[in-house]
Amino acid sequence: MPGSWLRIAHRGASGSTPEHTRPAFERAVSLDVDMIELDVQLSRDEELVVMHDSELERTTNGRGHVREFTLTQLKQLDCGSWYESAFQGQPILTLEEVISIIGPKVRLNTEMKGSQTDWDSLAPRLLTVLERSSRLESTIVSCFQPEALIALRRLRAHVPLGILWQDPTLADAWRWARELGAIAVHPFWMFVDSETVAAARERHLQLIAWTVNDVDTIHSLVKLGVDGIISDFPERFALV
Ligand code: G3P
Ligand code: MG
Repeated sequence: MPGSWLRIAHRGASGSTPEHTRPAFERAVSLDVDMIELDVQLSRDEELVVMHDSELERTTNGRGHVREFTLTQLKQLDCGSWYESAFQGQPILTLEEVISIIGPKVRLNTEMKGSQTDWDSLAPRLLTVLERSSRLESTIVSCFQPEALIALRRLRAHVPLGILWQDPTLADAWRWARELGAIAVHPFWMFVDSETVAAARERHLQLIAWTVNDVDTIHSLVKLGVDGIISDFPERFALV
């Protein structure tokens, strides 16, 4: 369906390649997405690594927590074999590496992952990387924990923020968006209906739904008027 909604690849093209790896990001770019969503967290030496789980077990051949290992140690791990042997040897990527892989055309939605104690370390590191790569204005930084976005906002007034939300009641999401001066609210797709779209419009906020993999559902949400769809299968956007 044509229109001005943002086509956003979740963890790269994670439905058809191992999430957060070079092939996942290259495939998302080749599918002409507008934006790529990814998760960042800190290594032990406070490098920004692109990974969803705080534990290594599901998507690597390592064991333990990402935060317990240095970047050099994390770089030894294999992030592709769990998905398919053809992807054996794909390494964990840093945010800087992903930015250089995807090039300047595709925007980023960077989700902050971590615990309460991490935000004061993660926020300045993230700002440094985004600023150094001239990505600050074109990136939406999102998080489920408003405390992370508060830490970021304290350091920079102008970084575009998205309030990630997984509760059916959106009242607090609108409130956080107002208090933090966010540009978007990102609800779980099942909690999006015409009232949600109207509430976002009224507040001049973008509404970005995650994670939507079914073509008919993507179609319905676009018809409702959402501003963006995050999907594991960006190849399906062309079918809408
Ligand atoms: O940003 C949308 C989505 O990625 C949030 O959930 O767990 O996939 O990071 P998760
Ligand atoms: Mg995410």
